[in-house]
Amino acid sequence: MAKLRTQVGIIGAGPAGLTLAHLLHLQGIESIVLERHSREYVETRVRAGVLEQGTVDILCNSGVGERLKREGLQHQGVELRFDGKGHRIDFQELVGKSITVYAQQEVVKDLIAARVGYNAPIYFEAEALRVDDYDAEPKIHYQHNGEAHEIHCDFIAGCDGFHGICRLAIPAGQIQFHERHYPFAWLGILAHVPPASHELIYNYHERGFALLSMRSPEISRLYLQCASDENIENWSDDRIWAELGTRMATREGFALKDGPIFQKGITPMRSFVAEPMQFGKLFLLGDAAHIVPPTGAKGLNLAVADVRVLTRGLVEFYQRADRAALQRYTERCLRRVWKCQRFSWWMTSMLHRFPDEDSFSHQLHLAELDYVTSSRAASATLAENYVGLPFDTPGLF
Ligand code: FAD
Ligand code: PHB
Repeated sequence: MAKLRTQVGIIGAGPAGLTLAHLLHLQGIESIVLERHSREYVETRVRAGVLEQGTVDILCNSGVGERLKREGLQHQGVELRFDGKGHRIDFQELVGKSITVYAQQEVVKDLIAARVGYNAPIYFEAEALRVDDYDAEPKIHYQHNGEAHEIHCDFIAGCDGFHGICRLAIPAGQIQFHERHYPFAWLGILAHVPPASHELIYNYHERGFALLSMRSPEISRLYLQCASDENIENWSDDRIWAELGTRMATREGFALKDGPIFQKGITPMRSFVAEPMQFGKLFLLGDAAHIVPPTGAKGLNLAVADVRVLTRGLVEFYQRADRAALQRYTERCLRRVWKCQRFSWWMTSMLHRFPDEDSFSHQLHLAELDYVTSSRAASATLAENYVGLPFDTPGLF
């Protein structure tokens, strides 16, 4: 059995774990990253697409934004579509900021390439099985190439997503969960067809929500609200295009072009927050600590915001032996998490059809959408949240 030693043991090579490892490396803090899947798997896993300006700045300022700047699609607004009309929310004009569409797996590829490039340890197909003694001398027990290994570290960063082991290691009674499930899911596809709009379209329809997004000038990313227990086998490509066409083509003169679908999947919708996010020397980051429904495009961005807070805390600890920022980790992260939860819940409630909605509920959706798109103050509120609220503590990047 190998026994390794490092300053920060990081479990999970998703956006949270990889960004943390990268920012710590730039500050001269050592870490080891463990990832249970293969490099190929994490580099091709299809998930988020929208990066806030603050996330883009952190990636660019830390030297991993070259391809993002070249290939990312900068958007100055989004369209909200309902009742036969499209309404543009102009981010640039309302709040002077923009968002960037760049796939999560591309962010992951860029961060892995950087880490491999400077020869810092990252082990794929290395599954963390247990974390121990996180109040005093933290240890991670993991399995790699069929053998058991251990990492001894000063701190453990639980970046292992919603289904990871770190949150589960906390005894009941020391951790509280705040949770909401939604009675629907999203069916998402990637298709080889140029996007029918150059900006995202969030579409409310009596038959359910639909979203048009993209990955490149040749690839469309589209989502359809579906039942939470939907079976993907029931959705042929023809049925998906027909349903998207019906829901999206409400605006006169708009036609959705179809094309070969090369990926499809169903995403459940939930809101979830674990509190606190730190237990002695174990910290939870990203989806390990909180989940938002994807309607606000906040999940990856929140993961990076947690990383920003923890990096600063660890730097103050190692450079000045000051624990104050580490002790405030939960409080600083949760302030932003709850504002993003509120925004994601609000967008989800406004844009989806709930089971058994009657005509009164339908009219309320329409009135809310009408208000949001016709009041400058309400449009600016949406824009301010969507592009990303300002960080309320100073960061290092
Ligand atoms: P993850 O990406 O889940 O990474 C966790 C990693 O830990 C995984 O690689 C996993 O294999 C590894 N792991 C788990 N257990 C272990 C173990 N025991 N040992 C070793 N490794 C382990 N967010 C946005 O900001 N904008 C969007 O537009 C957006 N759209 C989305 C659309 C969809 C369809 C979905 C599903 C999500 C979307 N999100 C979006 C959310 C975003 O994808 C997640 O919030 C993000 O992946 C969180 O990153 P993370 O690093 O915390 O967790
Ligand atoms: C995406 O492009 O995958 C995407 C865009 C906006 C969202 C969610 C996902 O709200």
